[in-house]
Amino acid sequence: MIKRIASCLLALILIFTLAGCANAPQPQTPDSQPTQGQAEPTQASVTEHSDAPQTDAPQTVAPKESSAPTGENEPEESGSDTLVVYFSRTGEQYKVGVIDNGNTAIVAEMIGDRTGADLWEVMPANDHYPMTYSELLDVAKRELNENARPAYAGEVLDLSQYNTIFIGAPVWWGDWPMIMYTFFEQNADAFAGKLLIPFSTHEGSGLSGFDRKLSSACPNSTVGTGLAVRGSDCQNKQESVRETVNKWLAGSGY
Ligand SMILES: Cc1cc2nc3c(=O)[nH]c(=O)nc-3n(C[C@H](O)[C@H](O)[C@H](O)COP(=O)(O)O)c2cc1C
Repeated sequence: MIKRIASCLLALILIFTLAGCANAPQPQTPDSQPTQGQAEPTQASVTEHSDAPQTDAPQTVAPKESSAPTGENEPEESGSDTLVVYFSRTGEQYKVGVIDNGNTAIVAEMIGDRTGADLWEVMPANDHYPMTYSELLDVAKRELNENARPAYAGEVLDLSQYNTIFIGAPVWWGDWPMIMYTFFEQNADAFAGKLLIPFSTHEGSGLSGFDRKLSSACPNSTVGTGLAVRGSDCQNKQESVRETVNKWLAGSGY
C-alpha cells in the first residue's frame, strides 16, 4: 500500500515537472535601450533563437535570387556630412515571413529621413546568402565559426566628407554579420577621428555588444550611443519605431 502511494506521488511530481518545463518562458535577452555597454547575449539566447519555432514562417518562400548589384554600389551623395551604412536582407526572415524591404533597411531609411544623411548599403560581392531563413542561419553560423570576411560589392568608399556615420545590421548569432567586420577592417583608417553610431535590429538579443565590437574594430573612432530595434516591429509597428528612432536621434543632436 505504502509503495503504491509513493509511486502515485512520484508520478504526480513527474507530470507537474514536465508541464512546468513546457510552459517555462524561453530565455531571451531583453531589448536593449539606447545605452552603451550592452551585455553580450547569453549563448542560451542565441541558441534558443535558432531553435525557435518557425510558426510565423510562410509555407512558400520567394525564389532564390540575388539582391546585390554586381557592379556599382555608390552612396547617393547629397553633400551631407552624415552617412548611414547598413546591411540588411530581404527574403524569408524570422517572425515576419517573406519581406521585400529588410528590417534594418527600414531603420536606416528612417535615420536618413530625419538626418538628411546619405545612405549606403553593404551588399555581398557575390550574393551567397540564401533567401530562406533556415539556410541563411546555417551560412551565417558557418561564417561566424570560421571568422570569415565575406567580400562586399562596390569600390572602397570615400568617407572624407562624413563626420558622423551610423552603422547598422541585423544581429546574427549574437554578433555583427561577418561581412560587417570586412567593412570595418577595410575602412578603419578612413573612420579615424569620426563618430560611429551603431544600431541593430534583432528578435531578442538587443544591441549584442555592437558598440563595443565596433570600438575594438575601429579603435581610432569615437563610438556613440547605439540603438536596438525589434525586427518584427520594423515591419508591423513602423510609426512607433519611427518615434523611437527620432527620440534616439534627438539625443545625438538631430
Ligand atoms: C542568420 C540569422 C541569425 C540571427 N541571429 C539572431 C540572434 O542571435 N539574436 C536575435 O535576436 N535575432 C537574430 N536573428 C534575427 C534578426 O536579427 C532579425 O530578424 C533582424 O531584424 C533581421 O534584419 P534584416 O531584415 O535587416 O536582415 C537572426 C536572423 C538571421 C537571419
